[in-house]
Amino acid sequence: MTARRLDGKAIALQIRAEITEQVGQFVAAGHAPPKLAAILVGDDPASQVYVRNKERACQKAGIESLLDRMPVDTTQEQLLGRIAELNADPSVSGILVQLPLPSKDQGGAGLDERAVLDAVDPGKDVDAFSPVNVGLLMQGRPRFLPCTPHGIIQLLHRCDIETSGKHVVVVGRSDIVGKPMAMMLAQKDGSCGPRTANATVTLAHSRTANLTEVCRSADILIAAVGRPEMIRGDMIREGAVVIDVGINRVGDRLVGDVAFEEAEAVASATTPVPGGVGPLTIAMLLHNTLMAAKWQAE
Ligand code: GUN
Repeated sequence: MTARRLDGKAIALQIRAEITEQVGQFVAAGHAPPKLAAILVGDDPASQVYVRNKERACQKAGIESLLDRMPVDTTQEQLLGRIAELNADPSVSGILVQLPLPSKDQGGAGLDERAVLDAVDPGKDVDAFSPVNVGLLMQGRPRFLPCTPHGIIQLLHRCDIETSGKHVVVVGRSDIVGKPMAMMLAQKDGSCGPRTANATVTLAHSRTANLTEVCRSADILIAAVGRPEMIRGDMIREGAVVIDVGINRVGDRLVGDVAFEEAEAVASATTPVPGGVGPLTIAMLLHNTLMAAKWQAE
């Protein structure tokens, strides 16, 4: 079997076109354009690329963007002060603090990431990292959905992949992807996206016993561990759908968490890296920024 390739890039472009149209309607109705404020502390090269891509995507969708570069040795007080200003600024619809924050080894001031994310106004928290938004999601009444898991939900939906009654194994228990992904797929209603609920979910991780067997029991396998090509062909059931969230640099190659060619030989569908889940994350960030602006205008 050669797996169908799920083209995240094309679906992200489709979603971005829809958002661009909705932004146009919002502005035509007399509102100021939505505005995303991104805070980047330090000069981590990968983070600079991510933030630049987010800015560029905003501009193309008619969303204003403001990049706040802060020095690597920014103190907790300075960072919290800047977040408070953006929280209070009525022209700012959404705020994101690019992660990771610089470590002490990198010249950072020893920033407390949890306290920083807690400080973002939940009504402007377009990453959905604040405890209020995590709690609302957990209760099945989300306000903002976290961007990467929401992108995966959209990908499954738009590729006609049904999740109801299916066994989904999520490998990786991060706050950004694994945990919210598991929660969203297990919801009993459509609160986290159409036709993408009612799954039976296993949240696997580095301490899971018999990981190969657990993965092999998945109808849909979602790899979000951050370890290059950790998911091998023998961990995938014949005909399963495999979603690869990983982006790992190995030498001068970008590889996912899944050994792609091995997966393609057994799965019914796979996502490539790059061009799979990554572009959807940015599309859903734009979606959240537009939603924030709409709620603030109500
Ligand atoms: N770093 C890696 N992924 C993300 C993300 O989704 N949001 C933010 N703010 N930082 C990240």
